Formats: sequence, structure tokens, C-alpha cells
Amino acid sequence: MDSTRYSNDISEVVEADRAHLWHHLIQHKQFETNDPRIIVEGKGIRVWDAKGKEFLDAVSGGVWTVNVGYGRETIAKAVYDQLIKMNYFANSAGSIPGSIFARQLIEKMPGMSRVYYTNSGSEANEKAFKMIRQIAHKRYGGKKHKILFRDRDYHGGTLATMSAGGQDERVMQYGPLAPGFVRVPHCMEYRRQDGAPVENYGEWAANQIEEVILREGPDTVGGLCLEPVTAGGGVITPPEGYWERVQEICKKYDVLLHIDEVVCGVGRTGTWFGYQHYGIKPDFVTMAKGVASGYAAIACCVTTEAVFEMFKDDAADPMNYFRDISTFGGCTAGPAAAIENMRIIEDEGLLANTVKMGDRALANLQALMEKHRVVGDVRGKGLFLGAELVVDRKTREAVDEKRVQAVVADCMAQGVIIGATNRSVPGLNNTLCLSPALIATPDDIDEITGAIDKALTRVFS
Ligand SMILES: Cc1ncc(COP(=O)(O)O)c(C=O)c1O
Repeated sequence: MDSTRYSNDISEVVEADRAHLWHHLIQHKQFETNDPRIIVEGKGIRVWDAKGKEFLDAVSGGVWTVNVGYGRETIAKAVYDQLIKMNYFANSAGSIPGSIFARQLIEKMPGMSRVYYTNSGSEANEKAFKMIRQIAHKRYGGKKHKILFRDRDYHGGTLATMSAGGQDERVMQYGPLAPGFVRVPHCMEYRRQDGAPVENYGEWAANQIEEVILREGPDTVGGLCLEPVTAGGGVITPPEGYWERVQEICKKYDVLLHIDEVVCGVGRTGTWFGYQHYGIKPDFVTMAKGVASGYAAIACCVTTEAVFEMFKDDAADPMNYFRDISTFGGCTAGPAAAIENMRIIEDEGLLANTVKMGDRALANLQALMEKHRVVGDVRGKGLFLGAELVVDRKTREAVDEKRVQAVVADCMAQGVIIGATNRSVPGLNNTLCLSPALIATPDDIDEITGAIDKALTRVFS
């Protein structure tokens, strides 16, 4: 063994991190006095940091990604075997794992047909945007090019996906953004818009999309991009009647429906995809995080055959195809890992476990709501849950985010990593977020909610 590589003294690593690493999602001033946290190992649902402290990871790698848990040797082996055989060729050619995974994925997605590989959720979303734009040019003289997105949804960190970003704090200071993206109202029942009805809120919220289409002109609107359950915008489960109406509206105005499954995709909500709870028939489905649980970078933009057909109807025209490449969309590690990831979910019955453990987690959170007045609302689908903290249940005024972060920090000190909405919706970064691996046991769930219980008691008493 190379002793320098495996040294127990990791002060050198900490120094290298301090000197050279630009971390994601975090302010760096604190690292002038505190050590950055370095995670060195993971097994199952647990991770260990460089100081040897053990954590139960209730957010699957921080951002709802490691769905099948850490330390999966069979995924590592599948990737290893594939890499020494054939690591990369541009996706203008096919690959063995790329083709096999595409077939297996489509088997889980009745009505869908074609898989376009990319390497991040943002990029997969951009591919759908580009396809919608190209369809507008091919069929409608470029006019039907606008893409609608929803308040509180997130679709990525690139400029085009930020232009479709419904979380204002993520977008601030990065403008000017790309034109042709138009916001529609959110569908969060707990924070109903002024004038919205209590009865049939879901239908009302969907009708707001129709109003935007009519205002913009139906002949200008080509696509609608929505998360099935909104993630970083507050874990928003859709209200009754919402999706049925959304589907009708898309059909009525010939608007292509793009479902962003980057978080919900591959098991997180207890079905393969979030949209499958609601009987939706999308034109595009994008996915990333859970596709290979972070063992390799892979993302997909999946379309129907009808969409695919629109790009090959005139082979004599040299411009008439999807003129795009994602270099690392040709990496074979991604689909090799994804095939094994999917096998694990099936063989270990993780969808059923997700439903069962999700129900337990939701019931536990409901019990916390009974006990702590600061918990104003709890929401969730499968192992994708949120608890919104409010100062006053009547006014629903949000708890200051510093106190929300104090709850997260208290759980961390107890050895449980939870998340909270942050730099998302101004004044409403007040939702605790949970997304443990789909292998979670009843004891894991109770440990997570037990830690939150103690943290709420300490921070709010
Ligand atoms: C719903 C949703 N879409 C897209 C993305 C962007 O994915 P990526 O960070 O892989 O570009 C994210 C990332 O958190 C997400 O939550």
C-alpha cells in the first residue's frame, strides 16, 4: 500500500482543500478559521469524515443522489470491467452499456422511446430546451419557441436553466438571463396565492398556466418544464387535480410537456419516476442524480418516438437532425453503473421499501408537528420529505433561516445529516429536507426524526 496516499494524517488534504478547492453551495470565509468537512468513506446509509466521526446521511450525498447507498462493490466492479474494456467513444457511435441501459430504462417508462445521454441534470434539461426550440423552428417558423417554467422550481445552474429558474435567490446577480423563458405560478397549497380558492386549488393552480399561455399567445409557447414534486423549492407535492389539468392544457395548446425528474427519478418517490404517480404522459423526461446514484456521472434526456421523429423527417436537409453533442455523454462508466444501480433497486425491492419507509418518515414528521408548534406543514412522497418551519401557524410566517440552519447544525452535531432549503425562495428558506437512501431501515428513519425532535427542542425552547 502507498503509505503517503493512505496516511492517517490528513492535515495535508485539509491544507490543499483550504488553499485550492472552491466548494459548491457554500461561503468560504469560515474556512479561514474552521476546517472544511472532508468525507472519506461511506457504507450503506452512513458516511465518515476525516476526523472519524460517523453520520447517518439523510440527504443521500447532500443533494438527493446516492439512492442505493454507499460502498456498492457490484457497481464499482461493473464500472471497472467496462472501463478496461472500452471507456469512451463519442455517442455518434453506440456502446454496449449505453444501448442496454437505454432499453432497460425505456422498459420502465411506457410511452417513452429515446434516450439522449448527457452528464448533468442541467445539461439534460438544456437538451430538452434545445429540442423544443428546434421543433419551433422546423414547424412553426421559430414562433412557438417560449418555454414556461414554474415559480419555486429549479432546473440547473447553467445560464439557460437559470433562465428557467423559479428560485429567485439562485438567479440573483447572474443576469442578464436568456430570453424566451416565462414563469407560471407555483402549485404549493400550503402557501396558496392571494385570491386562490381553498376548494379545487389544484385545478386553479393549473389554470394559471393556461392564463399565462393565453397572455403570451398559444402560438408562441412551445414547452412547459415542471418538476413532478418540487425539490429545492420546498419539497412541494402537487395538489389534487393539478396534473390532470396540466396535461389537458398542454394538449389543448400543443405545448410539449417536459418533466424534470433529476431528483425524483429512479426510485426516490417509490415509483421509478415521480410523474408515474400522476398518470402524466410527458414528451420529455430528464434525469440525473439517482440514475447511477453518483457512482458515475450520467444524465439522460428521454423523449417519445413522436418527438424523435420530428428530427428525422427530411434526411436530404443537412440541418435536419439534433445538432448537438455532450462529450462525456459518450462515457461508458455512466450506463454501466446505471444498469447495476437499476438491478439493485429491483432485486432488493427498493421501490417497495421506499414507499414503506416514506410512510413511516411522514408519520414520524406528523408526530413532530403535533409536538412542536414550529412545524407548520409536513409534505412528502416516498423518501423525499420536507417539514416547513413557521413562527406562527396562523400567519404561516417563515422561521428565520438562521434558526432553520441551527436545526440542521444540531442534527449534524448529533451525527445525522439533514438538509434545508437555502438560497432558494427569498424569505422562505425554511423547509427541512430529507432524502435518505432507498435502503433506509425503520431504525434509520426513527434515528433521523429523533434527531430532528431533539434539535427542534433545543433551538426553539
Ligand atoms: C430538479 C433539478 N433539476 C436539475 C438540477 C440540476 O442538476 P445538475 O446539478 O446535475 O446540473 C437539479 C440539481 O439539484 C435539480 O434539483
